[in-house]
Amino acid sequence: MKIITVLGARPQFIKAAPLSEVLRKNHEEKIVHTGQHYDYQMSSVFFEELGIPRPDYFLGVGSKRHGAQTGEMLTGVEEVLLKEKPDWVLVYGDTNSTLAGALAAAKLHIPIAHVEAGLRSYNRQMPEEVNRVLTDHVASLLFCPTDQAVRNLAREGLTEGVIRTGDVMADALYYHARRAEERTIENVLYKKKAYLLATVHRAENTDDPKRLAGIFNAFARIEGQIVLPLHPRTKKLLSAHQISIPSNVEVIEPVGYLQMILLEKEAELILTDSGGVQKEAYLWQVPCVTLRDETEWVETVQTGWNTLAGANIEEIVAAVARYRHNPLPPYLENLYGNGRASEEIVLAMEERGGAS
Ligand code: UD1
Ligand code: UDP
Repeated sequence: MKIITVLGARPQFIKAAPLSEVLRKNHEEKIVHTGQHYDYQMSSVFFEELGIPRPDYFLGVGSKRHGAQTGEMLTGVEEVLLKEKPDWVLVYGDTNSTLAGALAAAKLHIPIAHVEAGLRSYNRQMPEEVNRVLTDHVASLLFCPTDQAVRNLAREGLTEGVIRTGDVMADALYYHARRAEERTIENVLYKKKAYLLATVHRAENTDDPKRLAGIFNAFARIEGQIVLPLHPRTKKLLSAHQISIPSNVEVIEPVGYLQMILLEKEAELILTDSGGVQKEAYLWQVPCVTLRDETEWVETVQTGWNTLAGANIEEIVAAVARYRHNPLPPYLENLYGNGRASEEIVLAMEERGGAS
């Protein structure tokens, strides 16, 4: 089989790493990097650390408004697909790069495999929700990380080609955990002191000055040091909204994957609006307070390891206090698969061959 993988944003590099490795054992894969993320710490660091093959095509689209960004990607991916004539187009998650890859393939009648299909927040204000719904509805193979994702698709009448495989991000974490733990420099640095880890980047939080201020005011009220690898979007908008960083928040540049998962593992608690980080918190058995009003990773909340606190100061502070003063809930193994999602995905693609 010949596969074109379209990616462009940080979480997609991490998702592609384990799957690409399995795929390339017996098949030809070419990678198209849209250029949605382009800073070294948002892109190249992951290719280097995780051994992802260099992209065969780099579209260099960069940061733009949604329409312009998605449109330029669509044009670029279409040209590659016309030239390469792949059997499959593989896309991950829910970014503008995902939608552009899926749409370009659908128009050329090339079958699409969507990894991380079926996730829903049921909030159409989120650009990610629009991207994932549209991508799922043009995909031929829909690889679901959870049972809930399978049910979500069924509600929309999507049952064909739907396969529950587990989560490729769990594959990545299980695979790289030992390597991360061996990185003693970071170990020494962060094992010395107790800290909480935070990430913030969602449009719904960063674009809204009230929500962003609420989150940082809550950080100021939390006792203890908060380590914050700062997404460039948030850096820009904190400055635009003139929101200052509280003294207990240690801002660092975005970090590579190995350092990030180690920071997660050693943290007392995680505060985040990231999808991937919520799930990784669960996999490390670190309690998580999610700075959103809803989540796609509902299992983390149902098991008690994650609390939705939105951008509300009192709710965030209270959620941290609850985790600090109560025993942690029991941990359910294999909620996100057994680390073999990538193998199951490749097997399913092989069974379907090049046919749509
Ligand atoms: C995108 C995804 C989001 C995902 C996130 C992962 C969409 C609509 N959003 O959001 O679903 O959770 O990636 O991190 O696809 N910037 C830089 N350098 C970079 C990249 C971005 O400075 O390398 C800055 C630019 O100012 C840019 C802003 O960040 O305008 C936002 O980047 P963009 O890719 O549009 O969206 P994200 O917020 O990163
Ligand atoms: N991540 C990272 N460095 C950072 C912040 C996050 O390597 O400084 C990793 C994190 O461990 C997870 C993924 O990036 O695997 C999540 O991506 P992000 O939060 O950007 O996007 P989302 O998952 O919300 O779409």
